[in-house]
Amino acid sequence: MKKDTVLVSGGAGYIGSHTTVALIEAGYDVVVIDNFSNSEPSAIEGVEKILGRKITFEQVDTCDKEALRGVFERHEFSTVIHFAAFKAVGESMTEPLKYYQNNLVSYMNVLELMKEFKRPNVLFSSSATVYGEAEVLPVTEQTPRQPATSPYGNTKQMAEDILRDCCAAYPDFYGIALRYFNPVGAHPSALIGELPRGVPNNLVPFITQTAAGVRECLSVFGNDYDTPDGSCLRDFIDVLDLAKAHVAAVDRMTQHKMDAKYEIFNIGTGRPVSVLELITRFEKANGLKLPYKIVGRRSGDVPAVWADTTLANKVLGWKAERDLDDTLRSAWAWEKHLRNL
Ligand code: UD1
Repeated sequence: MKKDTVLVSGGAGYIGSHTTVALIEAGYDVVVIDNFSNSEPSAIEGVEKILGRKITFEQVDTCDKEALRGVFERHEFSTVIHFAAFKAVGESMTEPLKYYQNNLVSYMNVLELMKEFKRPNVLFSSSATVYGEAEVLPVTEQTPRQPATSPYGNTKQMAEDILRDCCAAYPDFYGIALRYFNPVGAHPSALIGELPRGVPNNLVPFITQTAAGVRECLSVFGNDYDTPDGSCLRDFIDVLDLAKAHVAAVDRMTQHKMDAKYEIFNIGTGRPVSVLELITRFEKANGLKLPYKIVGRRSGDVPAVWADTTLANKVLGWKAERDLDDTLRSAWAWEKHLRNL
């Protein structure tokens, strides 16, 4: 049976590009849009090389509603995966309006056009950041959200609520929010991966850039947390596994298998790994030594967060499968590809 077409906004981004590959490999037709505000055309070329064929791509800014309307007019699709958003927590603190404008206006445009064109399914990229500093770990989807500590986090919470309200109000509107934990790694081909601009905020890109000699030394933000080795605990999920979770969610929506009009799933491995442990694993997996030093805590960091993935395992029939060492090898292979090492 022919599968639906999926619109992927922000499809040249880190998670969007891997998800595009996974959707097409699973038999979906995909229309990718991106404005390259925080991504590069090379990501689309990488996707095409992996797939061995051209994909449908349009350079469109989702904040430009009329341009986006053109995409709806030109293409039939039942489902949108909305990735297009800014994601730097620190920058959102100093430039909140940039975040509210970009992340919410683009989202509203997508939702309004989905409604207007009677396209039923919206999959939203949410984040474990909505849990803040949870009292009980691991977090389930029922764990209460904490007040957001950054405008970035706030846009995720607001977008979840907007989707919930739309699903409640409009009969032909279905939503799934996937709450990602810490996406890491790259496609094993090393043709697509994370492309941070400037100094990376996230741990793994900073590690790989340090290994490549682009950064002198990795700073570990705090070793005095109440955790086994004093560094923070996170749930590092391979981006390929994460991409497959999107395919499972799209299957669920397009095959009309949802139990409710709006559903939320944690997408992680369910295993906590500390920052120091991750560094050691990276060194061993890749046979190299990383220069690092312990510095003070980074403001806004939670000591520990990892997922209870029971719901995604049971209901989506999805499970994280990639081995962390393979993930860390793929991250390094991607960095080497970028630097011609
Ligand atoms: C952050 C955001 C999250 C967002 C995610 C992906 C918060 C609190 N966090 O997650 O919402 O979805 O990025 O963009 O909103 N670390 C170092 N040295 C570094 C970099 C990081 O020690 O150079 C440590 C951090 O202190 C943290 C861990 O590594 O304990 C992971 O950090 P990071 O990769 O930035 O992800 P999160 O902060 O967990």
